[in-house]
Amino acid sequence: MDFKCAVIKGDGIGPDIVDQAIKLLDIVGEKYGHSFSYEEVLAGGVAIDATGHPLPQETIDVCKKSDAVILGAVGGPQWDHLPGNLRPEVALLGLRSALGLYANLRPAVMYKELQAACPIKDEIIGQGLDIMVVRELTGGIYFGERGQGTGENGAYSYDTMMYSEKEVERIARNAFDIAMKRGKKLTSVDKANVLENSRLWRKVVLEVAKDYPEVELNHLYVDNAAMQLVINPKQFDTIVTGNMFGDILSDEASMITGSIGMLPSASLGEGKIGMYEPIHGSAPDIAGQDKANPIATVLSMAMMLRYSFDLEEEAKAIEKAVENVLAAGYRTGDIMSPGGKLVGTKEMGRLLCEQI
Ligand code: IPM
Ligand code: MG
Repeated sequence: MDFKCAVIKGDGIGPDIVDQAIKLLDIVGEKYGHSFSYEEVLAGGVAIDATGHPLPQETIDVCKKSDAVILGAVGGPQWDHLPGNLRPEVALLGLRSALGLYANLRPAVMYKELQAACPIKDEIIGQGLDIMVVRELTGGIYFGERGQGTGENGAYSYDTMMYSEKEVERIARNAFDIAMKRGKKLTSVDKANVLENSRLWRKVVLEVAKDYPEVELNHLYVDNAAMQLVINPKQFDTIVTGNMFGDILSDEASMITGSIGMLPSASLGEGKIGMYEPIHGSAPDIAGQDKANPIATVLSMAMMLRYSFDLEEEAKAIEKAVENVLAAGYRTGDIMSPGGKLVGTKEMGRLLCEQI
């Protein structure tokens, strides 16, 4: 089969990690008889420098015509002074919205080989961790009405957290479907003790739950969820939550697994097209230095094969490659521990390719 991928390398370490992911995809293609074509487009800081806007229309058009979008990372200090509507991050939010990618899957898996990199005590984490965070991605406070002005107390600004019933329902269904394929346990995270919006969220989730009697559902307030992730992470199987809470909790969950450099993500909508990116940022401090960990991006490619291309065996081959390379002791700096063999981005990429 032929698959068309739009590629957004982005800023900082984006090009370093995406290059490795693409090399690996090509090897997978050769082995299993698929071809992947890549059309590179600009978004984020590099797009601002080249065109004056973080998300050029051409980028949206190319992405819409593709089977999937591969994204590295966007952002960097040189664009921090720009007004909110012209920052590199606008590209990410804009793409998610333009492609209707409302469901963000962020699996936090701890490999037993990386136990030494996990900041949590062995007796708490046990043999590993496998949590799926399902984050709503095109609504909530990141997309609500916002504004600023000046009043009697000086300047003010506001962002609005809004969810409609329909938005909560579709992400909840998604999460229940995923929970059904996993441990049949779903935790919905909200702040229903304070926020009106969270009370609606909870009501809708409870409504949807009636269609999934096999799934054990519980609700946690977000502050408690943040704490529970640290004191008892093993209680979680699938978590569903809104845009901002999911942003925060998925970073937390990733650090529990050892490094944010390990966590992939898939952003999905109604159709098959998805966007696949590591959950980490552009790490400008190590950009272009052959230091970044390409594994989160590589694992995002596995998710792309699985969710957009229906290539389960090929997806598993990538995941197995990651396990094997870790088991052989190879580590990038972020997951290094005593006894590990320190390698750079390219060497890690090469080792992964060798495993396919
Ligand atoms: C993420 C990032 C983005 C988000 C930023 C860069 C806009 O933090 O993908 O988690 O908040 O969604
Ligand atoms: Mg984030």
